[in-house]
Amino acid sequence: MPLIIACLSQKGGVGKSTIARLIARTYAAAGWQVKICDFNTRQLTSVDWVGSRMSAGIEPAIAAEPYNTVKSFKRETADLLVADGKPDSDQSSLDIAKVADFIVLPTGLALDDLKPQVLFANELVSKGVPRSKILLVLNKITESPVAVQEARE
Ligand SMILES: Nc1ncnc2c1ncn2[C@@H]1O[C@H](COP(=O)(O)OP(=O)(O)O)[C@@H](O)[C@H]1O
Ligand SMILES: [Mg+2]
Repeated sequence: MPLIIACLSQKGGVGKSTIARLIARTYAAAGWQVKICDFNTRQLTSVDWVGSRMSAGIEPAIAAEPYNTVKSFKRETADLLVADGKPDSDQSSLDIAKVADFIVLPTGLALDDLKPQVLFANELVSKGVPRSKILLVLNKITESPVAVQEARE
């Protein structure tokens, strides 16, 4: 099995696709064969992004494919799969979290963003996902150290 890194959230717009692409590009630049599994099949942000990179001949090469179920992970031959999660899909996110080696939960600084993501993290832990695999990422932060500190707390 490849290494699996997942970017998940219940809310949309928190940065899953942005961070998934950043991770994919970084590993690919280090020589890994990388595929983004794009679970947001309504938007296909990461699939579109890979298409644009390919048409422009941008390296390093990265693969991407629309994905509906983690069952297909087994047939993958890449070194790294980056799962770009689907919002509003608890079951899909839990399935991905259970097979992932590492889970990134991006959130904005506002309480409206933090609260659902912290609840989601707790739900994953209560359903058996090891806490050590989960990284909450404060994304789209402001310049204000106070706002960042408050969000951390
Ligand atoms: N760190 C960041 N700084 C500025 N804009 C960001 C950052 N992360 C994400 N964005 C922007 O926020 C929007 C939502 O991000 P996206 O990755 O598509 O979220 P999601 O996949 O969780 O819906 C996009 O327009 C993206 O470019
Ligand atoms: Mg997205």
